[in-house]
Amino acid sequence: MPIRLLPRQLVDQIAAGEVVERPASVVKELVENAIDAGAQRIEVSVEGGGVDRIVVADDGGGIAADELPLAIASHATSKIFSSDDLAAIGTMGFRGEALASIASVSRLSITSRVTGSDAGARIEVDGGVASEVRPAGCPVGTVVEVRQLFHNVPARRKFLRTAGTELGRIEEVLESIALCRPDVAFRLVADGKTRVDLPATTDARRRVLAVLGESIAEGLLEVTADTVLEGGAPITLWGLVGRPSLARGSGRALRFALNGRAVLDRTLAHAVKEAFRGLVDPGRTPIAFVAVEMDPSLVDVNVHPAKTEVRFRQPNFVHQCVMRAVRDALRAADLVPSFTLMPHAHSLVPAIP
Ligand SMILES: Nc1ncnc2c1ncn2[C@@H]1O[C@H](COP(=O)(O)OP(=O)(O)O)[C@@H](O)[C@H]1O
Ligand SMILES: [Mg+2]
Repeated sequence: MPIRLLPRQLVDQIAAGEVVERPASVVKELVENAIDAGAQRIEVSVEGGGVDRIVVADDGGGIAADELPLAIASHATSKIFSSDDLAAIGTMGFRGEALASIASVSRLSITSRVTGSDAGARIEVDGGVASEVRPAGCPVGTVVEVRQLFHNVPARRKFLRTAGTELGRIEEVLESIALCRPDVAFRLVADGKTRVDLPATTDARRRVLAVLGESIAEGLLEVTADTVLEGGAPITLWGLVGRPSLARGSGRALRFALNGRAVLDRTLAHAVKEAFRGLVDPGRTPIAFVAVEMDPSLVDVNVHPAKTEVRFRQPNFVHQCVMRAVRDALRAADLVPSFTLMPHAHSLVPAIP
């Protein structure tokens, strides 16, 4: 076959393979967009495990009518413009890829009205082809509707699980984001039934309990640290960890926020597990939510399109800081004998390839 440039629609579908794995990935991207738009309240409703329909409505700043076609174009973003911006990302999104990718594997519409405008507008995309922008009545904010996910990608559809399983993953994604942003109200309605309802709060502890369950409140210990990394950059931690008796059989018990973003990170997970070493069985995972705030230029979130993996510039220091903070909390609760106070040097370095 001769070498040819791929058609745009196919390029977007290939890119979508990395960003849009399942309905939960769509929910994640749309909710993160709502957060970047400054939303105070985000409502997600899904049908058929998100495969039939996902609607994410927010009360954020909205998208101007004349920018709607750009919003769904690939590599179009309002969030970064130079490689300097890329070096210190302060928003959830930055790749300008999500809406284009989702639109290439579904039927998508965006209805939006910007603050200060007296009318809204709507654009629809079907099979990668965008409609004209038409006027539409709507409140300030944005509603993105995604129907028939993967209708044109049978290979992807085959890998989807039952609607119930997909819904579970959507719930999990929404809760991880909600843990990071207690100041935002979140709701998830599935097939007409409310599954998650989290009012906004200024009390991070309340949000953690609302997500992880009030029943474990008694068993939670507060973790805090306010220190500096090598070079003097500040790093602060706040979190709640469960007493060893609350440890669970699955790794889902460990959740992390990094600068307001829900992340899955081995350095952080290892640090918490290490702090609990000797207190929980090796096969079990302690319950923990830890939020880390640090200079965004000291952590790279541009590792994978899904942006849940990160790379720290000083992983050993971050690891040490988290492990010490958790150890301190365990010690304050008399759960760690004082002679284990100083961890062995070898345990400070996580096994990261
Ligand atoms: N809910 C929303 N409210 C306001 N603007 C939005 C919303 N969703 C998307 N946008 C706009 O569309 C652009 C493209 O979104 P997306 O494809 O997710 O890329 P990214 O988030 O990486 O910029 C965003 O940069 C933003 O300007
Ligand atoms: Mg985005």
